[in-house]
Amino acid sequence: MNASPVIVALDVATEIEARLLIAALGDSASFYKVGLELYTGVGMDFVRDLKSEDHRVFLDLKLYDIGETVKRAVAQVVRAGADFLSIHGSRAVLEAAVAGRDGAPLQLLAITVLTSFDENDLRQMGYPGTVADLVELRVRNAMEAGVNGIVCSPVEVARVRTLAGPAATLVTPGVRSAGAATGDQKRVATPAQAIADGADYLVMGRQVTRAADPRGEMLRILEEIQFRK
Ligand code: C5P
Repeated sequence: MNASPVIVALDVATEIEARLLIAALGDSASFYKVGLELYTGVGMDFVRDLKSEDHRVFLDLKLYDIGETVKRAVAQVVRAGADFLSIHGSRAVLEAAVAGRDGAPLQLLAITVLTSFDENDLRQMGYPGTVADLVELRVRNAMEAGVNGIVCSPVEVARVRTLAGPAATLVTPGVRSAGAATGDQKRVATPAQAIADGADYLVMGRQVTRAADPRGEMLRILEEIQFRK
């Protein structure tokens, strides 16, 4: 199922827990997101191991630093063989990431505005406008900087598709099947709706990882989006 658009978020603390999940998912998943918790716990060796086992890896590090540091860190990620990497969507940071990738196949994905931010948070950071305005500005900047795509919420994916163009890779977390627990997610869409609105990949965490039968849950989701091997 290598071409499946579902990326499973390995939001666990240890390699053992991650391995149990991967084993439970079996052939129903092959694309995994390694975020800050797991990365800071187990490091890049685990990413290299996943790659050597023919999985795809989205390294969700949301990089943000001075250009030279970002450039050199991205070169390290290229060496590890990760497939996707997230970067905060400020222009100089994105341009440094593109330079660090140096033509390698790693896909760089820009974070526009964290979905946990509202306009009060923007005021505190000194931005006068709306979240939607800042998302729009950052999508334009990101595509001009030469990254491959955008991480965006399902409620903004249709608009981001219009702004970013047909070639952009759009990756959407905050996805839940109808009836599934939403947890702390406030703005959710179903997997089918997110894809209909223009998402290329769905990041799915707790609905799959906390299911009694992760593989069964995954197969239901793949059925829901009518994915066939
Ligand atoms: O909510 P769920 O468990 O499906 O989240 C899966 C992943 O998506 C988590 O790793 C979380 O960090 C990420 N996420 C995100 N933006 C959101 C919601 C979740 O990046 N708005």
